[in-house]
Amino acid sequence: MSATSVLARKWRPRNFAQLAGQEHVVQALTNALTQNRLHHAYLFTGTRGVGKTTIARIFAKSLNCETGVTATPCGVCGACTEIDSGRFVDLIELDAASNTQVDNMRELLESALYAPTSGRFKVYIIDEVHMLSKSAFNAMLKTLEEPPSHVKFILATTDPQKIPVTVLSRCLQFNLKQLPPALILSRLQYVLGQENIPFENGALNLVARAAQGSMRDALSLLDQAIAYSSGKVDEVLVRTMLGAIDQGYLFDLLQTLRAGDGAGLLRIADDMAIRSLAFEAALQDLATLLHRVALAQTIPQAIPDDEPERLRLLELAQQFTPEEIQLNYQIVIHGRNEINLAPDEYAGFTMTLLRMLTFAPQNTGADAAQPAPRAVPVAAGASRLVAAEPVPARQPAHAEQSPATGAGLDWNTLLAQLNLQGMARELAKNSVLASFAEGRIVLNLAPQHKHLQSNKIAQEKLQAALSEYFVKPVRLVVELGATKDAATPAAVELHEKQTRQQQAEEAIKQDAFVREAQTYLGAQVIENSIRPV
Ligand SMILES: Nc1ncnc2c1ncn2[C@@H]1O[C@H](COP(=O)(O)OP(=O)(O)OP(=O)(O)O)[C@@H](O)[C@H]1O
Ligand SMILES: [Mg+2]
Ligand SMILES: [Zn+2]
Repeated sequence: MSATSVLARKWRPRNFAQLAGQEHVVQALTNALTQNRLHHAYLFTGTRGVGKTTIARIFAKSLNCETGVTATPCGVCGACTEIDSGRFVDLIELDAASNTQVDNMRELLESALYAPTSGRFKVYIIDEVHMLSKSAFNAMLKTLEEPPSHVKFILATTDPQKIPVTVLSRCLQFNLKQLPPALILSRLQYVLGQENIPFENGALNLVARAAQGSMRDALSLLDQAIAYSSGKVDEVLVRTMLGAIDQGYLFDLLQTLRAGDGAGLLRIADDMAIRSLAFEAALQDLATLLHRVALAQTIPQAIPDDEPERLRLLELAQQFTPEEIQLNYQIVIHGRNEINLAPDEYAGFTMTLLRMLTFAPQNTGADAAQPAPRAVPVAAGASRLVAAEPVPARQPAHAEQSPATGAGLDWNTLLAQLNLQGMARELAKNSVLASFAEGRIVLNLAPQHKHLQSNKIAQEKLQAALSEYFVKPVRLVVELGATKDAATPAAVELHEKQTRQQQAEEAIKQDAFVREAQTYLGAQVIENSIRPV
């Protein structure tokens, strides 16, 4: 994106403290500087606009600040101010993209032999170093190996794959990370605060996400937004500017998918088409949303309380299983990759939606609307529940069992009746029933699923399902404890699957044709290829 972004240039961090993120690099450089263990060549890698050039310049100040070699350059001495304004004679910046030739490199290396004019070190920053020609790289090697002690090389690239290993091995390499949206957001808030420009948080949120990890892109988008706006950077304006999809559409799509409503999906797509929203961008945003749902399933606490879409996110996290979210994410990513191959964007988009619908598991979606037949105990104290006619709602059909151990109530069978989804289902599946008495159900959760114990929403859902099932309030207590080989429904399921697999493998081994093929043709059974039918 444009190198002319006003805000990016104005707000380029001038010391390590002002830098957003990249703590791992800052820490390592700080240690090197304070312990005076300096290398002679550094390589900063990372995608565009994440701070490579910025860190290189701060490092150059650290090396040359008149207060001494320091991780906190003063910013006011001759060296610091000249470096900040690009006038320092001993800082030589070479843009390899426009100086690919070996002659440029020879010239540079020759000048490296002379002592610094005013600074402590001569610092060479070679940007986009992967663009150098092969001969230019070769010319560099010898100097990189044994540079004069007053010389430091800082190489930067977005594409380390293109750098010869001979060069790589002579550099200390640091990989800069893409910046997470939250970090970008707070930097944007800071910058606009300093600039005294009013804004809506939602607007900055959109910019931070659109920047895809690049602070420079974020700041130049912000430049644009300010130029468009009449005084205030507001959400509607930024959304229009970015051609961003109203998140509401995406939530609606997933909810409609959950309901198994194919016609509904197409209606939403048509509505989006009427508003001429970009379908490729929509798929990208849908993937982002699915990612956020997956995060919400894994660590619900990580969603900030002030996240405007918090409730809807948590709701989706409950409605889908983690596997479904993973699968849908894959489908959406593929759909986006293939959208150029589709007859048109609308076709590519709707085919992706329909593919998600096709792969939705059978027992959910539309089918889930019809409750599974309920079960009743055959007789008091019977050890199993058997399927029976649906029970009229208000009838206390599911009596509490005594004694307090919960013996007599088969958790496995009960679970099959509860029609749970998502994390609540995971919680139930990975627990065994410890006791059930006086309206209180205690579950022992397998310790490897500990995270579910703190998932309040999952517990509430399970408690509600149990209360509904027993037609009276049930209090659920989840304790850690089920041992590794306890008969949790999940373990039973796994065991059954393994048994079926073994049987299938056994059947193949016993099969007359297979045995003949093995004996006479030297054929071998590929073990992992056998699947039970
Ligand atoms: N980590 C960061 N913290 C704060 N601002 C940053 C950060 N990274 C980049 N910026 C902002 O983005 C602008 C560009 O950063 P910089 O030139 O360091 O990127 P770069 O990684 O060298 O990118 P490129 O590969 O495009 O050269 C800076 O002027 C600064 O305003
Ligand atoms: Mg750069
Ligand atoms: Zn200084």
